[in-house]
Amino acid sequence: MADLPLLASGRDADVFALDELRVLRRYRQGGDTASEAALMRHLRTSGYPIPAVHASDGPDLVLERLDGETLLASMLAERTDVDTAADLLVDLHNRLHALPPRFSADPAARVLHLDLHPQNVMVTSRGPVVIDWRNAAEGPADLDVAMTALILAEVAVGPDPQLAGFAHAGLDAFQRRAEPPRAGQLRRALGLRRVDPALSATEKATLVRAAALVHTREG
Ligand SMILES: Nc1ncnc2c1ncn2[C@@H]1O[C@H](COP(=O)(O)OP(=O)(O)O)[C@@H](O)[C@H]1O
Ligand SMILES: [Mg+2]
Repeated sequence: MADLPLLASGRDADVFALDELRVLRRYRQGGDTASEAALMRHLRTSGYPIPAVHASDGPDLVLERLDGETLLASMLAERTDVDTAADLLVDLHNRLHALPPRFSADPAARVLHLDLHPQNVMVTSRGPVVIDWRNAAEGPADLDVAMTALILAEVAVGPDPQLAGFAHAGLDAFQRRAEPPRAGQLRRALGLRRVDPALSATEKATLVRAAALVHTREG
């Protein structure tokens, strides 16, 4: 892809500009984007704010090119304050969890993003847009809330002091607004992070300390 300008790189994917309107998002380790693309198309039809999917082929997705920046970048540049960011995250959870499940027969099951944190939200001219649906699944809504809180907590106990400060404040603000997840769902989130290949061994070693920062209710 030497000929395409690299726009951004995440943990799993490189994102190249195809033109003014489209990006190519490619998984570096390969893989298949078919189910991710199908879910994204479904969510877009439901009115949830995600980039349009133009094509899916193996590890590649061709997506609508979003303007703006990630919510994390916007927070670091002091264009979005912590309370506004927490409002956005809670609202994006609530809107997602208001949608019916696609596959599950369990009426309580919801579409879950399971990686909904400030680097997977873009602040655009059409409002906040959620990207990176790789981990999406169906299940109880509070598992998604537990996962966002746990990810913020991981950064809050992480090595970068500036990020840790933002994450601490972000976690506090998020937890003031979101209904606390059941303790069992935090344990599930912890289990998922423990086996997530995107996390290093060093990061996995901080998970229990991070989980201690997450407020839960019984159940
Ligand atoms: N549709 C898009 N338009 C513009 N930039 C994007 C788009 N999708 C992703 N990006 C940029 O690429 C980065 C990585 O994308 P992401 O889907 O989160 O991949 P990863 O799984 O590697 O985290 C994002 O943080 C964002 O900066
Ligand atoms: Mg990402």
